[in-house]
Amino acid sequence: MKLRKMVIIPGLLAYVVISSVAAATSTKEKVKYTNLKVLPKDISSKDLQDIMADDFEDGLGVTCGFCHANAKDGHGLDFASDEKPEKEIARAMMRMTLGINKKYFQVKHPNIGSNALTVTCTTCHKGEAFPDGDTALK
Ligand code: HEC
Ligand code: HEC
Repeated sequence: MKLRKMVIIPGLLAYVVISSVAAATSTKEKVKYTNLKVLPKDISSKDLQDIMADDFEDGLGVTCGFCHANAKDGHGLDFASDEKPEKEIARAMMRMTLGINKKYFQVKHPNIGSNALTVTCTTCHKGEAFPDGDTALK
């Protein structure tokens, strides 16, 4: 019983410290993303915007609406929605890109948007949505 208490108390303390640090950092970061499956869930809004604009828009020569569905209320885009198949294909491409870097280029902890990547969206796409010469989804 005594031994258990000694284990539980430091554990609890660590939990309190960690969760208050997390709370302090997350109040600074107002934007909350609700549907990230490949990118880190705690990504900063700057890093996310850079990836969307530089890697995805410029890399594929498209705009946000190529992957993101229109909002149901008719105002702008619903970024969390998975309605457009292009978004899920993009996720598969993200996983593939991370895998190629890790397996064939020995990039230790590959992240989309990181300068450490050898192969990026642009390597294949070169500003084109359809690098294989097609003009539409199959
Ligand atoms: C090539 C496809 C593609 C393009 C173009 C694109 N996105 Fe995304 N976006 C994604 C994917 C895929 C995700 C989900 C990533 C994940 O699951 O980790 C995402 C996620 C997001 C999210 C997070 C939504 C949430 O709450 O989960 C935001 C915000 C976002 N994109 C904004 C934008 C903006 C703004 C643009 C244009 C500047 C843009 N995206 C262009 C594919 C794209
Ligand atoms: C190794 C090469 C390669 C890399 C790296 C790559 N792609 Fe692709 N991607 C392709 C090819 C080839 C196609 C066409 C496949 C087809 O037509 O079936 C494609 C198709 C797509 C499509 C489907 C719709 C379309 O426009 O053809 C999306 C969306 C896409 N890629 C996004 C991305 C994103 C985002 C990245 C970076 C995270 C990425 N790709 C990285 C080769 C690549």
